Amino acid sequence: MNFPVEIAPSILAANFACLGDGIAAVERGGAEMLHVDVMDGHFVPNISIGVPVVASLRKATRMTLDVHLMIESPETYIPAFAEAGADMISVHEEATPHLDRALSLIREHGCKPGAVINPATPVAALSEVLGIVDHVLVMSVNPGFGGQKFIAGALGKIRELKRIRESYNHTFRIEVDGGVGPDNVAELVRAGAEILVAGTSIFHTPDIAEAVRSLKRMAGGALAQKA
Ligand code: DX5
Ligand code: ZN
Repeated sequence: MNFPVEIAPSILAANFACLGDGIAAVERGGAEMLHVDVMDGHFVPNISIGVPVVASLRKATRMTLDVHLMIESPETYIPAFAEAGADMISVHEEATPHLDRALSLIREHGCKPGAVINPATPVAALSEVLGIVDHVLVMSVNPGFGGQKFIAGALGKIRELKRIRESYNHTFRIEVDGGVGPDNVAELVRAGAEILVAGTSIFHTPDIAEAVRSLKRMAGGALAQKA
């Protein structure tokens, strides 16, 4: 199974007072997706954005909208995010006792379902759902905040997921989120990551479009090395 590597800028790090400009810049840089972090102040100790922002983004861009739900009872909100225009919706294994139900609900609503694991959660926690997900999101920081340091244990999980995918002929993509930037992009791609979420390393730079281009070049180089 070979997927292209895609960059998913996380708007959590963008300037919300001029979000449209930030989005236009990452689009100019060639980003394929926008990563939207939804936080409820319960599952994670921070509050961010919700359904109306996804609806506005849908009107502003044709990029894939990758919605990362860091909320309790995600099942309750899946229909609203789907209706607002999400393309991919990811739910945390730790956030619901009904992960299979939540993932099926996402698919029923016409979106691509993803399962997320926190740094302390092993890949094995997802073994029963790997056949029904579009993507697995490996958190490489504890969720809740941008700008944190990359936790290296994520690399081993990415390699493990790639091995499992090959052994069982699964078709999920592998996504990584947290502390991703120029220092680790090549290693992440070589390990098997196909969707790279990056907030600070894109939006907290003087040239947002160029930051995306540069990450894409690094990812492309690492992919070529791998082949
Ligand atoms: C953290 C979020 C991430 C975050 C990544 O809870 O899920 O998507 O925005 O930000 P950086 O790239 O700054 O670590
Ligand atoms: Zn995220």
